Amino acid sequence: MTVRPRRSALYMPASNQRAIDKARDLPCDVVILDLEDAVAPEAKEEARANAVRAVRDGGFGERELVIRVNALGTPWAQDDLAAAVAARPDAILAPKVGDAEIVHRYLAALAEAPPTTGFWAMVESCRAIFRLDAVAAAMAVRPGAFVLGTNDLAKEMGARLTVERTPFLGMMAMAVAAAKGHGLAVLDGVYNAFDDEAGLARQCVEARAYGFDGKTLIHPRQIEVANRAFSPDDDEIAWARAAIAAFELPENAGKGAVRVGGEMVERLHLDQAQAVLARAAKN
Ligand code: COA
Ligand code: MG
Repeated sequence: MTVRPRRSALYMPASNQRAIDKARDLPCDVVILDLEDAVAPEAKEEARANAVRAVRDGGFGERELVIRVNALGTPWAQDDLAAAVAARPDAILAPKVGDAEIVHRYLAALAEAPPTTGFWAMVESCRAIFRLDAVAAAMAVRPGAFVLGTNDLAKEMGARLTVERTPFLGMMAMAVAAAKGHGLAVLDGVYNAFDDEAGLARQCVEARAYGFDGKTLIHPRQIEVANRAFSPDDDEIAWARAAIAAFELPENAGKGAVRVGGEMVERLHLDQAQAVLARAAKN
């Protein structure tokens, strides 16, 4: 079973060469070279050139390399997309994807990219929330991921982005269900208060419980917390081993449900148990 870890996905403005250089040694699973919101209009060209050079030069090891382009309709989108397709990162992340129609336009722009190049979409508009299933379905032709853009969502909704994120919990569950329903990965939004480790840990644990694969991050300080939260812990590993062992017992061969500790485990849990062990082996 192949599982690509995406516990920690660190954004950096591609205009910040120092940050890009640092990323080659940081323990994050994904590096997102941003050409969009983190880059001022006057630095767009430089950021694009830096991102292309970073992908071409490599040196990021196992880390997945993603370029976030400017949205279609902006003055930079066509050049960003052409440069990203030519550079061949692991995936191209599109901002403000509101419906399936826009997915088709991005996919057309990616036509020359190898089929292994992923197409990832920011879920960050009110419009998108009611179209998640159609957006995910349209994306399923390439390896894909949803990335929650909670800052943009909060802005458009006029909602307050607290550590508890109460206004967003329903959308988080919907985004996970839509993504998983079409075989996409799904990453949680950023936590802006990068000095608040407890707040970040809380959001990671919660996101993990919702089924997110990892969290997008803005600062290197946040990486370890996310890696820990999205890795299987000792209890989960013990549960997975016990579940697999229980079904291997000859007396359980014909059973669909067995007792493990004080809990019922069904055959459907075997896939989950194997996924836990595969993820644990990878970390
Ligand atoms: N990726 C890689 N390296 C980073 C980084 C990031 N996202 N954020 C900070 N660093 C590096 C800095 O370059 C600095 O390195 P140095 O000590 O070798 O010079 C070190 O980590 C410490 O940085 P610090 O001084 O604590 O932060 P800052 O004040 O320089 O920057 C931010 C704070 C928020 C501006 C910065 O972290 C950042 O740009 N984050 C990403 C923003 C982004 O991409 N947003 C888009 C998606 S929401
Ligand atoms: Mg955004």
